[in-house]
Amino acid sequence: MEANARRRILTGDRPTGRLHLGHWVGSLSARVRLQSEYDCFFIIADLHALTTRPEKDAIGEIPGHIREMVLDYLAAGIDPERSTIFVQSAVPETSELALILGMLVTLPRLERIPSIKDMAEAAHLEALPFGLVGYPVLQAADILLPRADLVPVGKDNVPHVEVARELARRFNYLYGDVFPEPDVLMADVPTLPGIYGQQKMSKSLDNAIFLSDPADVVRQRVMQMYTDPNRVRADIPGTVEGNPVFIYHDLFNPDVDEVEDLKARYRAGRVGDVEVKRKLAAALNAFLEPMRERRARFAAMPHLVDEILHEGNRRVRDVARVTMARVRDAMGLNYFREA
Ligand code: TRP
Repeated sequence: MEANARRRILTGDRPTGRLHLGHWVGSLSARVRLQSEYDCFFIIADLHALTTRPEKDAIGEIPGHIREMVLDYLAAGIDPERSTIFVQSAVPETSELALILGMLVTLPRLERIPSIKDMAEAAHLEALPFGLVGYPVLQAADILLPRADLVPVGKDNVPHVEVARELARRFNYLYGDVFPEPDVLMADVPTLPGIYGQQKMSKSLDNAIFLSDPADVVRQRVMQMYTDPNRVRADIPGTVEGNPVFIYHDLFNPDVDEVEDLKARYRAGRVGDVEVKRKLAAALNAFLEPMRERRARFAAMPHLVDEILHEGNRRVRDVARVTMARVRDAMGLNYFREA
């Protein structure tokens, strides 16, 4: 490693569209922080989206989703000068590396990863497509291509990073040292519940507050929030623990005294839900307003997203070409190859 080279991070998301508070809590806030210490690569994994939805109309929605996501990244504070945001399908070396890595792992090893079956079920697929079984192999290619040192992911993705570690070891053992064995950095934050309380915040469950929601939408969503169901009147003592309105207050309301006062009065049956929710909506809007402003400013710049992705794709390909040359050299796979 060069004297002043920073350690590399690679992480990313499938292109699902606008990001919500759950993304902020689970990954986005950490990414914004990690940028100052690491050389960060953020992949928008559009090929991974095809593992469950290869239909043409689903592909047609991807570019719009990518634009919304990049605007949310920027609004949240990801700095494209310091970090590299790129699109998976624009880096063909990823597919080439995934094909090679696929030779080094067995089908039973991949089939026993729970998230693969979960994704198949969620997409109502009866049998596993080859590409879906290969999901972690493609993810390993994403990680190993820039020779990442550290991979911040949520709990469900930890087994995928474990596959990437095994593939790095196996490759290095067979052909010589090319890949660092990437460490996983697991987000140890509990998942944020959606506004109706029971399930995690998710776009498909229609229980999300998006980072780009206007102030009045945020207010409406907060007013719809699930609280303590036993508390049918404001003078009945309520439960604070596990109550979504207080989970959100703890995460997004910086006025600790106000939050403690609301909790004390809630427990004593001396505050109505409406006051708790009004104060939460105000805190959330104060938190989101700077993001909304930045987003509007970026969205008004006509070619900004295209330029950022163009530059990001270019930077990754520069790195990818070097890695793939090393891969082929190490394997002795460079015979009869045109330069
Ligand atoms: N599998 C991740 C998800 O659940 C997305 C992803 C694709 C990813 N490639 C990655 C995450 C590489 C971390 C590293 O959406």
